[in-house]
Amino acid sequence: MTKTYHVKTYGCQMNVYDSERMGELLEAEGYAAVNAPDEADLVILNTCHIREKAAEKVYSDIGRLRVAEPKRLANGRDTLVAVAGCVAQAEGAEIFRRSKTVNMVFGPQTYHRLPDMLADVVAKRARGFAAQVMDTDYPADTKFDHLAKGRQATSPLAFLTIQEGCDKFCSFCVVPYTRGAEVSRPPEAIEAEARALVARGVREITLLGQNVNAYHGKDSAGHETDIAALATRLSAIDGLKRLRYTTSHPLDMNDSLIAAHAELPKLMPYLHLPVQSGSDTILKAMNRRHTAVDYIRAIDRVRATCPNIALSGDFIVGFPGETDKDFADTLQLVTQARYAAAYTFKYSPRPGTPAAESDKQVPEDIKADRLAQLQALLNEQHLAFNTPCVGTVQPILIEKPGKKPQHWVGKTPYLQLVSFTAPDHAIGDIVNVTITAASKNSLEGNAIL
Ligand code: SAH
Ligand code: SF4
Ligand code: F3S
Repeated sequence: MTKTYHVKTYGCQMNVYDSERMGELLEAEGYAAVNAPDEADLVILNTCHIREKAAEKVYSDIGRLRVAEPKRLANGRDTLVAVAGCVAQAEGAEIFRRSKTVNMVFGPQTYHRLPDMLADVVAKRARGFAAQVMDTDYPADTKFDHLAKGRQATSPLAFLTIQEGCDKFCSFCVVPYTRGAEVSRPPEAIEAEARALVARGVREITLLGQNVNAYHGKDSAGHETDIAALATRLSAIDGLKRLRYTTSHPLDMNDSLIAAHAELPKLMPYLHLPVQSGSDTILKAMNRRHTAVDYIRAIDRVRATCPNIALSGDFIVGFPGETDKDFADTLQLVTQARYAAAYTFKYSPRPGTPAAESDKQVPEDIKADRLAQLQALLNEQHLAFNTPCVGTVQPILIEKPGKKPQHWVGKTPYLQLVSFTAPDHAIGDIVNVTITAASKNSLEGNAIL
């Protein structure tokens, strides 16, 4: 009988990319994907450690898998459970101590060894040993050289990791510890992967990196390639219609990338540029290494070249020591910067990070209150960005059918979600849509026939 697997993905887009690659590796081993964990011979939880809530979710999911084990065994399924991703990297063997249900623990840099680990677990089990295998190394060879050849695309959108890890060590953040040092992939390898994606039906690629604009790959001739040069190279791929990148760091917002937005029609007018706080005191304590004014200047430079760019950001409220005045500075920065989209978080102390040790932790009720105020302001800005789109015509890349017949869902160049009517169109097409309504999160419209 065909073996089955189920991957559950938490956290950021890079985990989505990694989960896809794990799926490909397993399919090359003869496994087939299933939607329900209880129908799987192997369940992989690809985890996120960024905030406490995200990390704790994993343990409740493991608990659920444990509770359902007798039922699976009754159905003849002795499911293996793997914890992958950033919690696996951060907690390692602790996961085995907390749960006997888990058979494999491996991090973001070792998942290419999944077939070997599986064989190891199966062999151990056959000999009657406790089947627990862990691999949280930072191997010298890169996983990217070992990944399987891709499969047919199920969506016209794909992620492509071009740079991974982080050397910036913001004082609140676990990523440098869970993903390791910053590494850029060679441009040739990225181009080959992009071409393979396009050949399999992908029309829009989002280049991924924890600090994607710090990308500096060396090609085989030894030439340094920055993200602008890489985007230029990928733009030449026929059949690729849209290119995006995320996440950028304000310190690495170089002029060539800004110029690329004006020069490359395929490079979409959207910039995710997290700032975290508008207070210089807090930015310093966060080790962000830039001021609020530096950030505003960076956006001004982008807008001078690309006036309509949709700006998005990440914010943390209630960082240790954040006063009412510091928070007011954040609201002030938001007012100046004007965001089309944003992600807001309450500070979550993470084990092993400097900020978690601070004795100036902000009470939860104050964090909740600041979060609500910030979100209210950002929601007004999102609506202010979306409303003027009503009456305009936008090119929409169709991603999937809508809920009703002849309804489709896709995005504008500005990453606005649009639900629209159109007869007879295909997923992956770009159609011109007249926008008829706007809310803070999405648009509606009708295709021009
Ligand atoms: N590399 C990106 C961000 C990666 S993490 C950058 O430098 O901007 C994604 C977002 O999670 C961060 O931008 C931050 O807003 C949030 N985040 C990270 N650590 C956090 C913590 N300890 N508590 C709350 N939010 C956090
Ligand atoms: Fe985390 Fe800072 Fe690195 Fe972003 S730049 S991943 S927030 S340490
Ligand atoms: Fe989470 Fe790891 Fe991404 S901690 S946000 S899955 S890099």
